[in-house]
Amino acid sequence: MSSSPNKLNVYSGTQYLVHALIWQGTQLLVLDQRQLPERVHYDTFTTAAEVAEAIKTMRVRGAPAIGIAAAYAVALSVQQHYAINNTGWQQQVTADIALLAASRPTAVNLFWALSLMQEKLALITGSPIVEMINQAVEIHQQDIAANQQMGEMGADILADAQGLLTHCNAGALATGGYGTALGVIRSAYQRKARTVFAGETRPWLQGARLTVWELAEDNIPVTLIADSAAAMLMQQGKIDWIIVGADRIAANGDVANKIGTYSLAVLAKHHGVKVMVVAPVSTIDFNMQEGSQIVIEQRAASEFLPDCYAQEGGVVSAWNPVFDVTPAELISVIVTERGAVFNPFQQGVRELKK
Ligand code: MRU
Repeated sequence: MSSSPNKLNVYSGTQYLVHALIWQGTQLLVLDQRQLPERVHYDTFTTAAEVAEAIKTMRVRGAPAIGIAAAYAVALSVQQHYAINNTGWQQQVTADIALLAASRPTAVNLFWALSLMQEKLALITGSPIVEMINQAVEIHQQDIAANQQMGEMGADILADAQGLLTHCNAGALATGGYGTALGVIRSAYQRKARTVFAGETRPWLQGARLTVWELAEDNIPVTLIADSAAAMLMQQGKIDWIIVGADRIAANGDVANKIGTYSLAVLAKHHGVKVMVVAPVSTIDFNMQEGSQIVIEQRAASEFLPDCYAQEGGVVSAWNPVFDVTPAELISVIVTERGAVFNPFQQGVRELKK
């Protein structure tokens, strides 16, 4: 089902224009990011199964946005299945949670949000619908607040740095609103004009399709580069900082993020460029000791293999891991809403655990 977002009974975050997710009282509007930048189209979902499919097919993507969508999905599941005098609904909600958990493996925000919703549900004694919706809205609101805090903190660290390169899309589209890496770029740009570059981000083109669109919507000038042009840009001294988001940060400070982040970090080391990772604490997996333990999602070859090679038994195949792990030693600073950790290879990010 599709619709245009109206502004009644809506929780869509802040005054910023771009919203990946809009909660409308009893239903969730999801911006179909596969259609950007050509078309701004929202689907309306009322069941968890629809939202799980939207995550799997990347209508909604980006670690925090996936977590928030999953939280709303659990609320939708409770709304759909709850019945007084019949405990069978709880099994249906548990089945929906399992479906959501199987939608994508790498972003820990998904599992974080599902556990939070499960814990909340276990504590509720009366009718759970309103409380579960409120919990999902709170997760959404807290993500936006965290992004705004990180934006200011990151901008302080950048100070007067001029050349910024980002990868993938870690903006409002990938979060509750404002963005992580793009939140820092937004805040920094408000202080003074910067030169912003976005890598196109093969193979799904989150940079070319989403980041440049989102920055253009905010009137922030941006120059798109082919991923393979990053080395030359750094060689020419045009980049001071690489600023990226994260899908999962291990306790030792290793960071899983969009494929190509590791290449940028290696290039940055060679060229004396600094690397900033911006992510809410919900992206830290304190139980994972190091990045090598992180499950890296492999997506279909068809995302970039030309159709003519796609036949069964052919000699051409494709390898399509969509995240990589950047070792902590290549990262200058990890910015979270609980504070910034400089040189995370020294101690990891354990100090951020409450
Ligand atoms: O495959 P995607 O588009 O979901 O990957 C997104 C990224 O890798 C982002 O950089 C990350 O999730 C951080 S978003 C704030």
